[in-house]
Amino acid sequence: MSWTDTFVELNKTEHDRESFDCGEPELNTFIRTQAAKHMQAGISRTMVLPSAEPLLNQKYGICAFYSVAPSSISRETLPVTLAKKLPKYPVPIFLLAQLAVHQEFHGSGLGKISLICALKYLWQVNQHMRAYAIVVDCLTDSAQAFYAKYGFEVLCVHNGRIRLFLPMKTVGELFGS
Ligand SMILES: CC(C)(COP(=O)(O)OP(=O)(O)OC[C@H]1O[C@@H](n2cnc3c(N)ncnc32)[C@H](O)[C@@H]1OP(=O)(O)O)[C@@H](O)C(=O)NCCC(=O)NCCS
Repeated sequence: MSWTDTFVELNKTEHDRESFDCGEPELNTFIRTQAAKHMQAGISRTMVLPSAEPLLNQKYGICAFYSVAPSSISRETLPVTLAKKLPKYPVPIFLLAQLAVHQEFHGSGLGKISLICALKYLWQVNQHMRAYAIVVDCLTDSAQAFYAKYGFEVLCVHNGRIRLFLPMKTVGELFGS
């Protein structure tokens, strides 16, 4: 399987969700059974990177995916130096709720490509509706190490998971504000 060059919105009839396997059961279950439902419910959007060629069932394999949603965090969870510049209201953020690569491609740079595409996508959304930061909740220590490599910093523990954040200002420096 080789991948195409553009992430597109998940489409149940075009994309083969069953064959996706990133090695993390929770993320496999999400893409197979929940991502489309969440989009239909209007609570998140999932973008997938389809395979270049269709599978035997004529659907396209999913090489990688990410899911995003708007959310907010309590101002008090931010480092004091950042919090003191903000009003005393919940702070709007974009949640990078899921990101995973098919295990066939682990170690081939697709995680980095997927993360850059997700950040770019959210940077574009930010042109229309502002958010203070991008936040991720890490499923594993390994995921935390992956995001830390790209500048995400620890924010707090949320529902038993380490929550990381990257200020939108930093994302702007990447893509040119
Ligand atoms: C985490 C994941 C997305 C990484 O994808 P990948 O395609 O293997 O990563 P890449 O090949 O693009 O690696 C990019 C860089 O990150 C590093 N990296 C990859 N996985 C890493 C990890 N777990 N910890 C630390 N660094 C990691 C690579 O060494 C590489 O560094 P380099 O550019 O200096 O060589 C992938 O392993 C995955 O899907 N895991 C299961 C799902 C998951 O845990 N998702 C996180 C969401 S909570």
